[in-house]
Amino acid sequence: MFNQGLSLEQAPPISVPFRFFLTAPIFAILIGVMFLVYPAEVITNRYSNEAIAMVHMFTLGVLSMIIFGAMQQMMPVLAGAPIKRAKLFASVVHSFLTLGTIFFVLKFLYNKEEFLIAAIACLCISFLTFFITAIKLLFKVKYVTSTVNVMKLFAITGVLTTLLGLHLAIAHLTGNITSTHYSFVNIHILLGIFGFAALLIIGVSFQVIPMFYVALDFPKSVQNRLPISIFVLILSYFAFAFLNLDFYIYKVLFAIFFVIYAFHGLNSLNNRRRPVSDVTLWYWKVSLYSLVIAMLNWLFVPQDSSYLLTILFAFGFLFSLLQGMIYKIIPFLCWFHLTSKGYFDIPTIKEVINEDLIKIHFYIYMLSYIFFLLYGFFNEIFVDIAATLFILSNILFLINCILGMKKYASISKKEPLQTFVQS
Ligand code: HEM
Repeated sequence: MFNQGLSLEQAPPISVPFRFFLTAPIFAILIGVMFLVYPAEVITNRYSNEAIAMVHMFTLGVLSMIIFGAMQQMMPVLAGAPIKRAKLFASVVHSFLTLGTIFFVLKFLYNKEEFLIAAIACLCISFLTFFITAIKLLFKVKYVTSTVNVMKLFAITGVLTTLLGLHLAIAHLTGNITSTHYSFVNIHILLGIFGFAALLIIGVSFQVIPMFYVALDFPKSVQNRLPISIFVLILSYFAFAFLNLDFYIYKVLFAIFFVIYAFHGLNSLNNRRRPVSDVTLWYWKVSLYSLVIAMLNWLFVPQDSSYLLTILFAFGFLFSLLQGMIYKIIPFLCWFHLTSKGYFDIPTIKEVINEDLIKIHFYIYMLSYIFFLLYGFFNEIFVDIAATLFILSNILFLINCILGMKKYASISKKEPLQTFVQS
């Protein structure tokens, strides 16, 4: 399972990933609030300052937050690369990421330079601390699996996304928005969304889907070739831009790669060796189907606005999957830390977070996702309903995570022997 070869000394303290997982739903709630506060045509217009603020509330406050938290847990487990002084490392990365996200959003909402300077400083500290450490550790790993290779690509695309993001932020600071600015924005988006976020998810799911769901492995050829192909394709954006090649070919290649991933992911989940019911599977399936629909939308629907594509990819594919993953990781970590410390009378992994509450969260999230999509065809009222449901679903997400952690805290306060004797 997830703890293969993992000892308690190697694993970071449980508070390390938990602080990241608890902060993400708070930023997600704020995203919902932004959708309610600002007019729909402003917040969904990708060139508006409000949209840039909201996009980064998601990419920094939710996506990077969950990915950084999960990576600190996964590097020792999946790559055998534990981070030294894990608590200090987590405190630096987490607090500067939180502050950096807040300052970044404030700058684009209130147009104050000081906020952007503070954001640049905080995000530099957080991202560079994280990625420099990750690159150092990952490139030293002796037993290199396909997931380790993808983690390396993720770290490289992460650094490039950060550097380009900083370049764009400085351009805003100095007012130096040149004709090439939007080419840099495009490559920043590609590196951030398809590289930093999607690559990591793809690499981790190569190991996590078969482990968590006792499911089929992805074919070796897919594991070895797909991530590097996506990476090369992202970088070849420059060739397409400078040689004036047809961008439709570029889109087709991306779509083929992501559909191959989704197909094998769904095939693996639909052919589990032990097909027990599990609500977290719903999140994975919605995520993979959304990815396929997003790619078809990108290829075949003329993109007057990228709104539908963004919702399908960000809320449908990325956020659904990350929520499903957190609902697996939190119970597993509670169980792992308690058993490693010698507690015996403890809840099973499935009992740490009440499944019915996870189901309610799933239904509300799905409704909000559907209403967000409907806004693409109808009027503003759909965004208001979607945003309200999105806020509700993330409040429930936060409550569920807190309840799981409280269960852990209440057991770990007792002496290990006490729980054993009571049983
Ligand atoms: C150090 C971190 C980052 C900084 C300083 C930063 C900065 C920026 C800036 C200034 C823009 C606006 C460009 C413009 O339109 O003039 C931008 C756009 C964008 N960034 Fe970032 N970024 C960072 C990290 C990320 C990450 C990690 C992701 C994705 C995972 C991301 C995704 C995007 C997207 C999708 C846009 C387009 C927004 C839109 O069109 O409304 N960024 N970024």
